[in-house]
Amino acid sequence: MIVPDFIPQPYSKSIAKGSFTWSSPSNIALVKYWGKKQDQIPENPSISFTLNNCKTTTTVHFSKKENDGDYSFEVFLDGEKKDDFKPKIKTFFKRVEAYLPFLKDYHFKIETENTFPHSSGIASSASGMSALALCLMSIEKELIESVSEENFIQKASFLARLGSGSACRSLEGDLVVWGKHDKIKGSSDLFGLKYPYEVHQDFENYEDTILLVDKGEKQVSSTVGHNLMHGHPFAVERFKQANKNLSEMIAILKEGNLDGFIALVESEALTLHSMMMTSMPYFILMKPNTLEIINKIWAYRKSSDSKVCFTLDAGANVHVLYPAREKDAVLEFIKDELVAYCQNGQYINDIIGFGAKQS
Ligand code: PMV
Repeated sequence: MIVPDFIPQPYSKSIAKGSFTWSSPSNIALVKYWGKKQDQIPENPSISFTLNNCKTTTTVHFSKKENDGDYSFEVFLDGEKKDDFKPKIKTFFKRVEAYLPFLKDYHFKIETENTFPHSSGIASSASGMSALALCLMSIEKELIESVSEENFIQKASFLARLGSGSACRSLEGDLVVWGKHDKIKGSSDLFGLKYPYEVHQDFENYEDTILLVDKGEKQVSSTVGHNLMHGHPFAVERFKQANKNLSEMIAILKEGNLDGFIALVESEALTLHSMMMTSMPYFILMKPNTLEIINKIWAYRKSSDSKVCFTLDAGANVHVLYPAREKDAVLEFIKDELVAYCQNGQYINDIIGFGAKQS
């Protein structure tokens, strides 16, 4: 599927070389995306908090070459050449070439680094793909007459989606919707949209402490997991439920309904994992310590008036979400009761952020 809106007019300018740097954060979904159609089109809409501290910084150096019909690029992570990253980037280039017709006219040196440890089990695909998409958009901006800020971000999100679906939700913040939803004006399957409605102040500066339960490689990649939703016995109901949950989230966010938020977000996390457990082949990404942490959070909430809750992405790590005013108390609870379940006692304190930045 080619989307004509994102194909540029023939380039009017030329540039021999240069470099651009962007930092882009990770994001954590509240209503989850799990299941996609052809061309990275989501089966259901999702909404996420953009993170602040977990981010990827990428510099793309570019220099003009003869167009010999192939891509030319090299990739470095923390200064070290990473040839094993190349196939993923080549696939990305192939998918976006129709929208960035300069890709074969330049040699690229891509230098990237993450603020979080490489094998922390935190997916770097959302932050990494969005940072790369932004660098490529900055190059395109040099080749055309003018581009509005809105079109720039929208096309960067469109491109990032073609790299890794959830990456399209990392460009802006603090809440981003991806996927067409009847009640959210401007929402699209093609790119992320900064959440356009009122959000209660209780959700400002929301905290996310990420407990690193298992830092190993995932046994099942999200690509395989998404594909297992094709023909999944509960898929149709799940996609309907995600739409309904997103409708409910609009009122929850507006009213500051923290109890409603907890119920919806935790249910979404467990539903995501139950889709994995009920697919064929079935698989489990949670670890025993994931469940220990969930039970401790429930017990803590029962014994206090805390509004702390958890969510999960496609792995064993636990994202602990809580309002800013509870920061001291929840951090103490985490140190006293949850750190023992983290691999090497590791966790990352993050907070809701506002998206990518150029440097
Ligand atoms: O963007 P992908 O293909 O890695 O999929 C990510 C899916 C989840 O993180 C599990 C959920 C989500 O909406 O981010």
